[in-house]
Amino acid sequence: MNKKMNIAIDGPAGAGKSTVAKLVAEQLSFLYIDTGAMYRALTLAALREGLNLENGQVLTDLLGKTSIHLQHEQDGVRVLLNNEDVTEAIRMKDVTSNVSLVSSHEGVRIEMVERQRKLAEKGQAVLDGRDIGTYVLPNADVKVFLTASVEERARRRFEEQQQKGMSADFEQLKQDIARRDQLDSTRAFAPLKKADDAVEIDSTSLTIPEVAKAIIELAKERAR
Ligand code: DC
Repeated sequence: MNKKMNIAIDGPAGAGKSTVAKLVAEQLSFLYIDTGAMYRALTLAALREGLNLENGQVLTDLLGKTSIHLQHEQDGVRVLLNNEDVTEAIRMKDVTSNVSLVSSHEGVRIEMVERQRKLAEKGQAVLDGRDIGTYVLPNADVKVFLTASVEERARRRFEEQQQKGMSADFEQLKQDIARRDQLDSTRAFAPLKKADDAVEIDSTSLTIPEVAKAIIELAKERAR
């Protein structure tokens, strides 16, 4: 496999990007870079400081003095915010419902994108997010736009939450997902959008291993 090869996986919330990206990275021995986790970590930091999330400058300043580290361990990736393990905390409801707003600010995105490009610089990385193929790595060798119906995405989140013993309301989840889609795709700067040269995969009726297999096939094709 090409030493510099990078794989970009974009798509709306709940399409299965992170699970698929992890599996692809594992099978190819690539580095998995969860860019959403970086925006989530900043959101958590801002919430803790009680900052005004509408204010892009304040958030950009906060990011400037915040370290966010994705630490790869045997059992997965841990997210460190100023060296504190926040892997679980960044999945809380409060973070999820505010992360689209935090990530909509241009200053925040410019700094995050710079960090993400550095992480992917050496190649052999799988990045998942919203703007990887269109903006972060426009020259990525493999670009995938992963979708699934809102209904199916809400169903997956519902099951995930139930498995974790969290209470879940299906209709509410559906509404939250639709709202996040709307915010992520209509923001002014680097919105969620399929890159012209991305391959669209609809995962509504595919299993995670099936999607991962399709992406690995693409990577092998591109490596030829
Ligand atoms: O993939 P996720 O649900 O953890 O992402 C959280 C939020 O971060 C998502 O609502 C949009 C934002 N995001 C983004 O704007 N750009 C990225 N590359 C990744 C995530």
